Order: sequence, then structure tokens, then C-alpha cells
Amino acid sequence: MEFIQQHANWLYLVGAILFILTLRGLSGPKTAIQGNRYGMIAMGIAVVTTFFIAEQPVVWMIVGAMVLGAIVGIARARTVPMTQMPETVALMHSLVGLAAVLIAIAAILHNNQLISLYAQDAAAMSAAGVAPSHMNQVHLFELFVGCFVGAITFTASVFAYGKLAAKKWAKTIAGAWVKPVQALIFIAMLACGVYFFTTGNMSAFWAMTALALVFGWVWIAPVGGGDMPVVVSLLNSFSGWAAAGIGFTLENNMLIVAGSLVGSSGAILSYIMCKAMNRNIINVLFGGAMGGAATAANNADAGEKVQRNYRSGSADDAGFLMSNADSVVIVPGYGMAQGRAQNAVKELSELLKEQGVTVRFAIHPVAGRMPGHMNVLLAEADVPYDDILEMDEINSDFPATDVVLVIGANDVVNPAAKDDTSSPIYGMPILEAHKARTIMVIKRSMATGYAGLDNDLFYNEKTMMVFGDAKKVVEDMTKAINGTGH
Ligand code: TAP
Repeated sequence: MEFIQQHANWLYLVGAILFILTLRGLSGPKTAIQGNRYGMIAMGIAVVTTFFIAEQPVVWMIVGAMVLGAIVGIARARTVPMTQMPETVALMHSLVGLAAVLIAIAAILHNNQLISLYAQDAAAMSAAGVAPSHMNQVHLFELFVGCFVGAITFTASVFAYGKLAAKKWAKTIAGAWVKPVQALIFIAMLACGVYFFTTGNMSAFWAMTALALVFGWVWIAPVGGGDMPVVVSLLNSFSGWAAAGIGFTLENNMLIVAGSLVGSSGAILSYIMCKAMNRNIINVLFGGAMGGAATAANNADAGEKVQRNYRSGSADDAGFLMSNADSVVIVPGYGMAQGRAQNAVKELSELLKEQGVTVRFAIHPVAGRMPGHMNVLLAEADVPYDDILEMDEINSDFPATDVVLVIGANDVVNPAAKDDTSSPIYGMPILEAHKARTIMVIKRSMATGYAGLDNDLFYNEKTMMVFGDAKKVVEDMTKAINGTGH
């Protein structure tokens, strides 16, 4: 125990290095498991060290909270379906935000006397034209930043959760009044914060916290559903910065490092996602709903629907065509996740390989509903990592590909993103499946995908639609190929 107390900073340093190795490991599927192990060890070191260096720890409270958290966490992790992961992540960020606010409040109440003394001193000092003590100012500034970032993260994440889980209370707000109201609340929040920071006035602190909570909600409520993934990733970043802020308050180096790592990696992920969805981060956060896509979808509903011709075929036809091809590229999308078809897809790909067909998987960075969604599912089904290619690696191979099998993907293969300047997704990078010799699309109907847009690929003369649930259709294809043999 004494050893831990004496070497706490060294132990934190080891933990911080392990956290960096964790992030490095998580950047690729082959090293992800090792990365996770590093993360677990680092977290273990952080918790144990903090426990031993805490002044007068209330042991039963800490252990009680940890046990309770573990029970809820394990139960949730076991039951949450992969399709509900994005909203679960949003909910977790809200807890980090809430923790930051509660710690700031606890620190303030703990130092209440000091702060009120400081407030008196500051008044006296400013009357005498002397600047208040530097240390107190730094301390108040940390509390001020940690608390308002945490409060914004909390309510914004709760809204993001509600929106992703399609809860009735998470209504998108729109109108000319939204931006001025947002600006007003923000300015009032900052003004209260600055007043608290310079005088230590407690009423200003409470007002700032309340305004920050309201701001988090009205800031995210105008953002459209299409942009929610970017928002969740950004809130991940915020939760990291809030944690780093608490780290300063609690003078805990580990929390500062870990918070900064989460903050910066979340910011980088938000940037990558914005690029993949062709969205500008400023537009996402301050431009309101993904106007184009929503409007296009509404227009399609409201206006007369133009009947267009498409070709459909059976799983047997598709199986026959694929078993006679030299190369097949499988493009999975949200429908594969929704239909839990990954194991059936793996079986189909193995069978085709046995028949001498080259089979590869093409992954779009925002296919599905969360970053890495398709990679996780394919890893779960034990698809070899070498068969899985990212968009940039495979796009140039499509023209020489015999068959592209699109399984429950829609927006990520929509050619309008390349050809139609009026399309709301124009400019978004896509998997160029339309360039292949033959395209087969498995989905249940001609319905639109997440962005609510019609997809020309489905009406392409090279395309054959195979209607049905992804898992059932893929299983039928496998049966058909098995039956045909070579
Ligand atoms: P989507 O464009 O959403 O299309 C999925 C398609 O799967 C739908 O058209 C649906 O058509 C079909 N489908 C659903 N359940 C199915 C089932 N059981 N069997 C067969 N087909 C099924 O998916 P995508 O191409 O993967 O694109 C992802 C979209 O989500 C993008 O717009 C992206 O911006 C957005 N988004 C991404 C993320 C991240 S980070 N990945 C997070 C949130 C949103 P039917 O109903 O006709 O079957």
C-alpha cells in the first residue's frame, strides 16, 4: 500500500502509456483484442492507484458504487443488440458529463468556505485595484470549464440517445428563433461563468450550470437524424475534455491524460466521419437538420411517385451467377446487421471460395449505424481480415469485378452521390458498386435507406434485385450453390 502511495505518479505514467497502446491496438482489427487487454490493465492500475492515494476514502461508498455500476454495465452489455449500440454509447457519454457536473458541484461545496472567503477577498482586492490570487483563479477556472462542458455533454447526450432510440420526447426543433435563442443562452452562460470565475459568486455558478444544461439540449435538438452519428462522436470527445477538466480539479494526472486521449481521439473520429458522410462539422453543429436529405424524403412522400422499372430474380439465379463468376465483392450494409446475416454471409463466402471464386468484402466507413459496425460483425463471424478491404482500397477494383453482392446496403452505394449535383448526398464518397459487371442487391423492398433517398443503382440495367430478409436470402443462395455444385 505504501509502495502505491509513494509511486502513484509512476503507476499513472505506466497506465497512460498503456492507454496510448490501447488506442494504437484498437486502430486495426488484428491488434484490437490486444488493445482491449492493454485498456483493461490500464484501467485496473488507474482505479487501484486512485483508491490507495485517496484521502480518507469512504470505502463502502466507492465499492458499493463500483459493484452497482458493474452490475448495470454487465447486464446492459449482455442484452443490448448491436443495432442499439449507437444510442447506448450516447447514453454512456451522458453519464461522463453528469459525473463532471457532480464532481464540480462536490468540489465547490467542499471548498465553499474558501470560495466565499475568496469572493470577499476578490471584492476587497478589486476595490484596491489588486488582481485576485492566481491559484484561486486557476481552481475556479477549472471548475467553471469542467462543469459547463460536462453539463452540455450531459443534456446533449441524453437528447442524442432519445433521437437515436426514436423516443417521442426527443423532438427535432426548427425555426428562425432557434439560433438567436441558442446564442442568447450561450452568452448568458458565459457571462455567469466569467462572473463566477472573477468573483467566486455561488449564485452565478448555479445559474451557469443550469444554463449549460439547457444549452446542451437546444444546441443538439435542431440537428437532424442523419448527422447524429457525428454528434455522438463529438460528444464522446466532449466527455473526454470534461473528464480532463475534472482531472485538474481533483489533481489527478491519470484522469487528465485519459480524458485528453478520449477528447482528441473523439475529435479525430468526428472529422473522419464528417469526411465519409461529406458533411462539414460546422454545418452539422450550427446548420440545423440535414435539410437536404430530410426534404428529399418528405418530397418523395408528398409528391407523386414515379414508377420506374427494375429487374428482380431469385436466390437460386443469384447463386448460380455467383458460382460461375471469377470475382465477387460483397458490400454489407445496415440490412446485414438488422437481419443478423453475418454468419450466413461468411458461409456463403467460404463456399464460393471453395468453388474457386475470389471473394472480398468492401467496407464503407459509415455503413451500418456506428463506426466500424460492419468490421465488428464480420469479425464476429470470423471472416479473415485479409478479405476485408476499406473503400479506398477496393474502389478501383469494381470495374474488373464480375459480381457485386450488396447485402442490405443502400446509401453507401448510391451513385447520386457522384452524379447528381442536386442530391443532398452529392460529394459523399461511395463504394462504386455500379461500375461492376453485374450487381445483385438483397433487401426486403424498394424502400429507401437512412438518408431517405431513392437509389439509381437498383434501377440500373446491370442490377438484379433479390427481395427478402438478408439472412434467409443468403442461406437460400448457399443452398442453391450447394445444390448446383461444379
Ligand atoms: P442504409 O442506407 O440505411 O440502407 C439499409 C438498407 O437495408 C435499407 O434500404 C433496407 O431496405 C435494408 N434492410 C434493412 N433490414 C434488412 C433486412 N433484415 N434484410 C435485408 N435488407 C434489409 O444503410 P447503409 O447503406 O449501410 O448506409 C448507412 C447509412 O446510415 C448512411 O446514410 C449513414 O450516413 C447512416 N448512418 C451511419 C452511421 C455510422 S457511423 N455507420 C450511424 C448512423 C447513420 P428494405 O427496408 O427494403 O429491406
